[in-house]
Amino acid sequence: MAQQVQGVIARAKGEPVRIETIVVPDPGPGEAVVRVQACGVCHTDLHYREGGINDDFPFLLGHEAAGVVESVGDGVTEVAPGDFVILNWRAVCGQCRACLRGRPQYCFDTHNAKQKMTLTDGTELSPALGIGAFAEKTLVAAGQCTKVDPAASPAAAGLLGCGVMAGIGAAINTGNVGRGDSVAVIGCGGVGNAAVVGARLAGAAKIIAVDIDDEKLETAKSLGATHTVNSRAADPIEAIRELTAGNGADVVIEAVGRPETYEQAFYARDLAGTVVLVGVPTPEMRIDLPLLDVFGRGGALKSSWYGDCLPSRDFPMLIDLYQQGRLDLDAFVTETIELADVEKAFERMHHGDVLRSVVVF
Ligand code: APR
Ligand code: ZN
Ligand code: ZN
Repeated sequence: MAQQVQGVIARAKGEPVRIETIVVPDPGPGEAVVRVQACGVCHTDLHYREGGINDDFPFLLGHEAAGVVESVGDGVTEVAPGDFVILNWRAVCGQCRACLRGRPQYCFDTHNAKQKMTLTDGTELSPALGIGAFAEKTLVAAGQCTKVDPAASPAAAGLLGCGVMAGIGAAINTGNVGRGDSVAVIGCGGVGNAAVVGARLAGAAKIIAVDIDDEKLETAKSLGATHTVNSRAADPIEAIRELTAGNGADVVIEAVGRPETYEQAFYARDLAGTVVLVGVPTPEMRIDLPLLDVFGRGGALKSSWYGDCLPSRDFPMLIDLYQQGRLDLDAFVTETIELADVEKAFERMHHGDVLRSVVVF
């Protein structure tokens, strides 16, 4: 039987979100209904409601979530009712060119639920990133559910579904940070600070946090940054070089998404070092680099999508580290809020004083 629950809906471009009753169908073949326990507020949710992603309104927002599987459809073997799961927005197919070449994180055929959740008048909803978890229950593809240790706190676990995974993965997967490396992270919001944590997990010897906001730098320090640079007060390229014997960092992670920070990342790395691009630029942004520098410095410029994560490999591993007290996910939960407060959380996001607001059910 289809169920009616409350969800956060963006009806039209730029309009404040509101809570409405939605209809969640029974899971079809390969699908699962999940009772959501926690869902973080991410910039991408705001981009949806601002019309910056596409025009498929109305959207059911929320995509950074953990919960318990309530029911599964035919043919589902990966999860069962009662399982505690983290939802992911790239359920890989295992068959496409990327999957077959051993790069499932770039799967071209990721799976979402085929059935649609609707409003009570039958209007079809577009779930954010194929998830839609600002709702008491949501319908997803079973492959979007990754089972993890049920003893973990849902608010912390859900963060691995998006921003925190993006940051940790930028360091451990894309950047391939190694023991003893020097790492610089430019931009220490939720994603950049997660990259700081990832660099520490990977055994980096030096972790240089760069931001324009001293509070963010304090947080970075508490999470494992060994040095901080306020780039309003000092040239970050010079500062990073000074801290690395004049060389630049082995790995520089850009987590802002602006031309000036892309350029800083490029020049702050050591010869043959790696630049990991996590910050998402807008379509009109450009940088102008001398080709001789691109050629001469060698190394790699890599973009990092979803932390190049493989949920089945990375989510359980990171939850284990969290449970052992070796990964402080709770530090990213600045506040827990109710479903009705998502719009307020968007406003706080503009002020930049939160790492993550998390809706807890
Ligand atoms: N130099 C350094 N830091 C900067 C600069 C700058 N010029 N401009 C902004 N920042 C800092 C902000 O002070 C803030 O701490 O970058 C940080 C951005 O953090 P958030 O706004 O919390 O964004 P976050 O969720 O971390 O995402 C960062 O990664 O995944 C992408 O789309 C996401 O592009 C975004 C980026
Ligand atoms: Zn997100
Ligand atoms: Zn694939």
